[in-house]
Amino acid sequence: MRKTALVTGSSSGIGQDMARELAARGFDLILVARRRERLEQLAGELAAAHGVACLVLPCDLADRVQLDGLMARTQDFLAEGRFLAALVNNAGTGVWDWFEKQDAATSQRDIDLNITALTTLCHAFLPLARQHRQPAYILNIASIAAFLPTPRFAVYSATKSYVLRFSEILAYELRDSNISVTCSCPGGVMTEFMEHAGQTLKGETGMMASPEVARLAVDAMLRGEAVQVPGALNKASTLVRFLPRALQLPLVERSMLVTVQDK
Ligand SMILES: NC(=O)c1ccc[n+]([C@@H]2O[C@H](COP(=O)([O-])OP(=O)(O)OC[C@H]3O[C@@H](n4cnc5c(N)ncnc54)[C@H](OP(=O)(O)O)[C@@H]3O)[C@@H](O)[C@H]2O)c1
Repeated sequence: MRKTALVTGSSSGIGQDMARELAARGFDLILVARRRERLEQLAGELAAAHGVACLVLPCDLADRVQLDGLMARTQDFLAEGRFLAALVNNAGTGVWDWFEKQDAATSQRDIDLNITALTTLCHAFLPLARQHRQPAYILNIASIAAFLPTPRFAVYSATKSYVLRFSEILAYELRDSNISVTCSCPGGVMTEFMEHAGQTLKGETGMMASPEVARLAVDAMLRGEAVQVPGALNKASTLVRFLPRALQLPLVERSMLVTVQDK
């Protein structure tokens, strides 16, 4: 039986690099995102470089019908001598702007993707992982914004707080099982994320490279670490949460505006 990992948001950025990491470590892959050509290109690359098999599943995870139909589309691939060993909930979006200027549909889309899809896929994964009894892993990608209340990122920061809290509790509840849960919380990473979020960078201060962030996240997942923050600067930033609340918001706002243009 071959171990298989499902990676959401694997058409770019950290998700694409985590798929590469997992393929290098012998996982077959189920690649999920909306852009089919990107996924097919990656599947070809991984097959050639590591000899792994990939199933390409184009899917809009913010669409309830497509989300509910996703796991059924993995069945034939898994039935060919594979078991689902890892679920990597990486797909995520956010909008950098004052909440009042954002439209309700966009906020809802971010909540549907960052919270609903992640939670639904964990529900679908657990019975499969319990059944095969092999070591199994959930890796949820949150953000340093999960620790830090971030002005201009109200919905995004709040959804990532959900991911962190949810993952910590799930890890505890599953501590005596074959399933570990890891929450990775990167700070700034050079990907397409900023462009999609409407962020204009002033510089690359403190930004990490996606392949490094992906490697550290997969390492943490395989170690079964509950919460992982990559990079010394990011780790230090999480200490802001111990300051009085009234100080946290202006401090986080100021530090964001060092790298990102204001709206
Ligand atoms: N970059 C950062 O600074 C940073 C920092 C902390 C945390 N993160 C988190 O890291 C994760 C990955 O982000 P990234 O930086 O790698 O950004 P990215 O390059 O923009 O990748 C986002 C991925 O999510 C997919 N996606 C977006 N909407 C989707 C939808 N509705 N259905 C299915 N897939 C969807 C995108 O693929 P398609 O467009 O093809 O669907 C893409 O593969 C996110 O959860 C993000 O919040 C990023």
